[in-house]
Order: sequence, then C-alpha cells, then structure tokens
Amino acid sequence: MTRHRAYETLQTLIDDNDFELQDDAEAGEIAEADGTYGTAILSNPAFATNKTHRIHRWVNWIAGFSWQFAGDAIDRFVPEGPGRNGAVVLDPFAGVGTTLIEAQRRGVDCVGFEINPFPYLAAKAELEAAWVDVNLLRMRIQEFGTALRPIEAAIDIAGVDAAPTPRRTVPTGFRSRVPFFSPKVERKVLLCLDYIDAIEEAPVADLFRLAFATTMVSFSNYTYEPSLSTRPGAGKPLQENAPVVETIRTKLVHMADDISGYARELRRLARLPEFSLHLGSFFEGASRLGDGSVDLVVTSPPYLNNYHYVRNTRPHLFWLGFVSSSRDLAHYEEENFGKFWQTVRESAAIDLDFDMPSLSKRIAELRGLNRHKGIYGGAGWANYAATYFNDGYRFLRELKRLLRPGGTGVIVVGNNILQGIEFKVDEELVKISESLGLVGHREVVRCQRVGSSIIGTGLREKSFRPVELYEAAVIVQKPSA
Ligand SMILES: C[S@@+](CC[C@H](N)C(=O)[O-])C[C@H]1O[C@@H](n2cnc3c(N)ncnc32)[C@H](O)[C@@H]1O
Repeated sequence: MTRHRAYETLQTLIDDNDFELQDDAEAGEIAEADGTYGTAILSNPAFATNKTHRIHRWVNWIAGFSWQFAGDAIDRFVPEGPGRNGAVVLDPFAGVGTTLIEAQRRGVDCVGFEINPFPYLAAKAELEAAWVDVNLLRMRIQEFGTALRPIEAAIDIAGVDAAPTPRRTVPTGFRSRVPFFSPKVERKVLLCLDYIDAIEEAPVADLFRLAFATTMVSFSNYTYEPSLSTRPGAGKPLQENAPVVETIRTKLVHMADDISGYARELRRLARLPEFSLHLGSFFEGASRLGDGSVDLVVTSPPYLNNYHYVRNTRPHLFWLGFVSSSRDLAHYEEENFGKFWQTVRESAAIDLDFDMPSLSKRIAELRGLNRHKGIYGGAGWANYAATYFNDGYRFLRELKRLLRPGGTGVIVVGNNILQGIEFKVDEELVKISESLGLVGHREVVRCQRVGSSIIGTGLREKSFRPVELYEAAVIVQKPSA
C-alpha cells in the first residue's frame, strides 16, 4: 500500500468574511486506490508538486491538481501506442491548464474551457509556449529591461515626478481596503503595462501579462497569509516601493528557461499536437464539440466548498483589464459551475431539476436547518447544494454526449459538510452518471484531516460527529456501442 504525506498550503484570496476556506488544508494522505480496471494508480491530486515542475510552476492555482495526476490519467486511459493518434483529451474546467499541458507533452490533442480570464490566460500562455520563439522572447525581455530599468531607477531616486505619464490608468471599478499599490509602485506598474500593451507578438505579450499577473501581489500592499489580506493586517508594513520591473523581468527569465527546456522535451514528438482553448463557460461552449468527439476527460470542477474563484482573483481581473465593474464580476458568478452561495442564498427555494430522491431528501433536510438564521441558515446552503448538483447533472449529461463509446471521464471532487450534513459529492456523481447510462465508480485519491475544508457551514458551531474530508476521482465510462 502506497502511503505518504503531502504538505501544502493553499493560496486563497479572501476578502469576504462570509466564510472561511480551506486555508489550513495540509497533511494530505494518499489512500490506496481501489481501481477496478486499468493498472496505473492515479497519483495524489494535490497541486503542490506543480510548484516545482517546468511550466506548471508558473502559476499557483487554488485546487488545481498535480501534473502527475493528470499525466497518470492520460497514460492509463489513452495509453501510448497507435491508439493515441488522433485522440482528444478535454478539460471543461481547465484552470491553469494542468491536464492540457500534460496532454500536449504526450503529443495528444486537447480542448479546454475556462470561464475565469486569469487562469485562462495562464493556460493559454502555457500551451502557446510550445510554439514560442524563445530567442525572440529573450530579446523582448532584454528590451523590456533596457527600456524600464532606468525609469525604475529614476522613480526610486526622485519619485513619480521623474517618470513619464502612463497611458494606462488605475482601474476605477477596483476597490480595496488599502491602496493596492503605493504611488511609486503604481507608476511602475502602469508603465510596465503600457510597455506590454505595445508588444506586437501576441504569445509573447501573453507571457509578459502572465509574468505580471503572477507577481503583482508580491509588490502590492496585500499578501497571501494564505488568504489575501492587507499587509498591515498581517503585521507587515505597506510597501512604499518595490522592484517591479526587476521582479517581472526575473519571472520572465525563468519562464524563458522553462520554455527552452520544454521545447527540448517536445522535440521527441512526431508532431506538435493541436490545442483549442475557449474562454467562457463550458455549458455555453460545449455545443461547439461534436458527439463522440472526445476520448478522455480529466477535470476537476469547482468543489462544493464555495471557493469563490471570482472574488479571489479580483486584483488580477481588474488590473489586467478583464473586468471594469462589479457588474462584470456578477456575470462570472452566475455562469460559474454551482454558482456561489452568495449568489443563490436569497433566491426562492431551488430544487434539483433531475430525479434523484435520496439527494433531494438530503437537500430538503438541509433546507429545514437553522431557519432562524435566515439566509445564513439551511435554506441558503440548500439552494447552493441544489445548484451545484444541477450543474453536476448538466455536466455529466454533456460528458456522455461528448465521449466516444468506450471513452472515459476522470473527475476529481471532494466531499463537504453543509450545516453539519455531509454531502459525498463523489458518490452522488456516480449515481447521477449511472442514471444517465454511464458506468461509474470512485477511487479515493486523498484523505485530508478532519476539519481541513470549508467551514462557515455550521461545522464549527456544534460538535458534529467527525467527518473525514477526502478527494476522490469519479471515473465514468461510456459503454462501447
Ligand atoms: C478546481 S479548478 C480546476 C483546476 C485545474 N484542474 C488545474 O489544475 O488548474 C476549477 C476551475 O473551473 C473553472 N470554472 C468554473 N465554472 C466554470 C464553467 N462554467 N466553465 C468553465 N470553467 C469553469 C474555475 O474558474 C476554476 O478555474
């Protein structure tokens, strides 16, 4: 039995006190997989190991899964050999592209959807890296340093008046408790963004944007502790100044080194596989894909833990110009898998829109809890759970259409506890799959210690029986015709 401990700190950016997130998830333990077919065992899905691996280490994305997990799933269900030719791997909730890069690395065509423009940019820049002319990239990095280092030095010595007036302006719709950047830093940021706007080669510009997006918090007045909080709130001083140009440049140099190494890896492939990545909701975009066009899905939809991807990437979304008002954010919240508790808690009662009496009963039980708490009681959480499983149903129905006969879906999800009631998302998804005519089973891939997942759900308010929180891979197969 393979057992080891994996320690990780999940980066969360929370500026909302409505809930606490999995900011203390650690000490994960891999349980033995109880696979019933195939030989390879799926790895620990924890994202932590991505932090040290070429390309994957560019972005640290909450609840991403490890490159080994995605790679194992591809090797297991689309094994190397003639069957790989023409195979297509899909990740409908692509995040920063872990599955897609592992497909590309193996020479397999891939398709992805991602609703949030920040991880979409990351996945796109990573996938495009396979085609980037690294010498051109290095030249652009050098030009960037040559153009902006003197300006950075002038600001350091003489303040913002010594610098040119930027074309870019501070995103007006973005509000933060303390100024996100101090004046000197802000001026440097705006001038860097001006410079990036003028880069003509789109894939190179994407890499620059990503280098900015992944370093911006480090020179801001905010910090991950591990949630995003103001530096003073975390006992740290405001950053009056910071080496913005140098930080971005250094990140780019590391990215260019990774791209060189990745290009060497890809040289062994007979051809560079194709990818198609869509910015937007999978539910809206899936119709672009033909029936039976996908061999394997490896994905991890948002968990039933109400992790608020949209709010938690606000600085990136505003400063990269992807959104300009909170109204724009609302669109992403509505379209997100499962929406969010904050989005549905005040709605009239939402029920399952498919037939699953046992799950309906659990949701009804949840709805009846803590009525005196109004939207913070069971009714709000019942709406969230129902919305989540309705999206789970829609997703599995679409997956069934897209998979070729004999094709497989590997879906990583976690259980959770809402107001003291445990929802075994993996077991429910297996049941839903079977009701749709898929063959499903689950493999527990990681057990976390008790209480390591979302709270704000009543769990800490009463002493409920201890519930083990775990992640499982739901493995579904479309029967062969
Ligand atoms: C658990 S993360 C996936 C992480 C990914 N496995 C990785 O390694 O980066 C879930 C992702 O689903 C995205 N998402 C949520 N709703 C979506 C939708 N309707 N369509 C496409 N993507 C969606 C979120 O923005 C988030 O990046």
